Amino acid sequence: NERTFIAVKPDGVQRKLVGEIVRRFERRGFKLVALKLIKASEELLSEHYWELRNKPFYSTLISYMSSGPVVAMVWQGLDVVKTARKMLGETNPADSLPGTIRGDFCVEVGRNVIHGSDSVESAQKEICLWFRQSELHPWENSTNNWIY
Ligand code: GTP
Ligand code: MG
Repeated sequence: NERTFIAVKPDGVQRKLVGEIVRRFERRGFKLVALKLIKASEELLSEHYWELRNKPFYSTLISYMSSGPVVAMVWQGLDVVKTARKMLGETNPADSLPGTIRGDFCVEVGRNVIHGSDSVESAQKEICLWFRQSELHPWENSTNNWIY
């Protein structure tokens, strides 16, 4: 079963969008397998954004991401990496359609509310970077056991 790493960025937490975002993933049909509120260290962020280290906005990005706590999550389900990226919208909210998270809640690329892994490989790396194995909690829906 595929997994992806999703983080509500500091602006999303400040703007009380955590519940709305969790709700969208639950209702779409994905399963929450890890969740924590974490103030990301610069060390963690420098690994997370290693590929962007030479971009002109890199230092702005690191100070934005370390400016407050983020809500780190792992979601599981069929094609969750690709589907989550669709649910997020484009990197620049101006290119994001209404109905997407960025298209509904933000306007600036430098304050774009949410992160989602861009491939299955980066999802695996990011999950290992942000979570210990013991923090991941796969579970089965117990409704069936109550019915039968
Ligand atoms: P993430 O899901 O957050 O990884 O976004 P992404 O995969 O759509 O974009 P990318 O990985 O290329 O960039 C990571 C983050 O850097 C973006 O989400 C933005 O927050 C930030 N970023 C990207 N481009 C710019 C830019 O031109 N200016 C600023 N200020 N921030 C940028
Ligand atoms: Mg990215």
